[in-house]
Amino acid sequence: MARLVIVSNRVAVPAEGSGAVAAGGLAVAVKEAFTAYEGLWFGWSGNIVDQPSDEPTIIDRDRIQYALVDLSPQDHREYYSGFANRALWPIMHYRLGLGAFSRSDYAGYSRVNRFFAQTLAGLIEPDDIIWVHDYHLLPLASELRGLGIANPIGYFHHIPWPAADVFNSLPASGDLLRAIADYDLIGLQTEPDVQNLTRNLCDTLRAIPLGAGSLMVDGRRTRIRSFPIGIDVAGFKDAAEKAASDRTVRETIAGLRTRKLIIGVDRLDYSKGVPERMEAVDRFLASNPDQRGNVVYLQIAPKSRSDVPEYEQLAREVNETVGEINGNTGDPTWTPIQYVTKAYARPVLAGLYRAARVGLVTPMRDGMNLVAKEYVVAQSGDDPGVLILSKFAGAAQQLPEAILVNPYDRFEVAEAIRTALYMPRAERLARWKPMVERMTREDVDWWARNFLSELENFRTVEREPP
Ligand code: UDP
Ligand code: G6P
Repeated sequence: MARLVIVSNRVAVPAEGSGAVAAGGLAVAVKEAFTAYEGLWFGWSGNIVDQPSDEPTIIDRDRIQYALVDLSPQDHREYYSGFANRALWPIMHYRLGLGAFSRSDYAGYSRVNRFFAQTLAGLIEPDDIIWVHDYHLLPLASELRGLGIANPIGYFHHIPWPAADVFNSLPASGDLLRAIADYDLIGLQTEPDVQNLTRNLCDTLRAIPLGAGSLMVDGRRTRIRSFPIGIDVAGFKDAAEKAASDRTVRETIAGLRTRKLIIGVDRLDYSKGVPERMEAVDRFLASNPDQRGNVVYLQIAPKSRSDVPEYEQLAREVNETVGEINGNTGDPTWTPIQYVTKAYARPVLAGLYRAARVGLVTPMRDGMNLVAKEYVVAQSGDDPGVLILSKFAGAAQQLPEAILVNPYDRFEVAEAIRTALYMPRAERLARWKPMVERMTREDVDWWARNFLSELENFRTVEREPP
């Protein structure tokens, strides 16, 4: 059996014997990719130690070998919090005003990518194919090629790829564009992402298009294509059907009495539009006074990247917004917004999605957004709820039957909530059916198979030694 080597910053090692995977789209999707391969999953252990070892810790579990490295406090600060999450993340999400570029952070990002490559190189076998994930590791192929690794290397970018003017405002953009061309195959979530990166490579680096997504960049050939990531539909449906027996789900439903549930589930990240969404709910309640006391909006928003100042600021802003809306609009018998920052296991989420009349998914910008897909799949086929989805989420390309909204327009989102709550069953069914069918066809397995079968084609490419 051919070996697949996956590399990602975050690695989800399941607890022994559980077969379960940690929360988060990337972790679940990557686990699925291993079904047809023997595999090695390489990345950060999640530990921060003073003297990281060059030797990875190896764990064998459920047919997958995990190779984990620690980071030093400086690595974590510069590579992860600094360059990846304070420079690349805001730029990729079109939030130039929230970006903070520092040369020392960029040096740390480059150093950790080199360290990953050096540690990983010793584990690579000649027949392996290598699949790298996400923006933390843009220069990894370039570092591996420099060490003589000639295996096929693919990259999947889980977040948006912005227009050239936005990306090129990053001081290191030229280096990163050149580095990414060292991947044989570059996967992006949507066609607009593919166009953004392709145009940028052609305009900035004079790349030559060779047809069918292939480009010649500085004498190297790379291929760029969209592979929209899917979810584990069968597993999620099953979880949603069984979830009624879960205590949290049962008690949440009982606590609603006759009230209708609107649900939002997001990492607490400014790209997700959580305060903007709360203001839209407030607007809806202001313009629909008959609905006061009749709906509850549950926002689950586990804290994320709390040592990045912009995330800390967001957490404060959301606390204030929730307090203000509940204080001004609620009464002793009704709290309009229920807000929790705890992470919930996916089977619990599945049950809560199914209980919600409305799934409110309104990121300001999102590579895909798996919550939108999970909400659709969790609905019952008899009486499905309604998905309200930002047109700036990658998922909107595959879910056009949702109520698509501009998340910057709180009036439009408030109006969509009203439409969703009053939507007749026949229309809900007519919108839901094509969405759930598409999600079932284009699931996570379809995504991984498509990417990997294309990456396999690069096995025969002869490479010049570095
Ligand atoms: N998630 C979870 N528990 C939570 C909140 C979220 O397991 O309390 C999962 C959610 O089910 C989804 C993933 O985290 O699978 C979030 O993926 P998405 O693409 O929506 O956003 P991301 O966090 O990757 O930006
Ligand atoms: C997004 C990114 C992933 C990341 C996840 C959680 O989904 O695309 O690469 O792992 O968020 O963020 P964190 O910083 O906690 O890894």
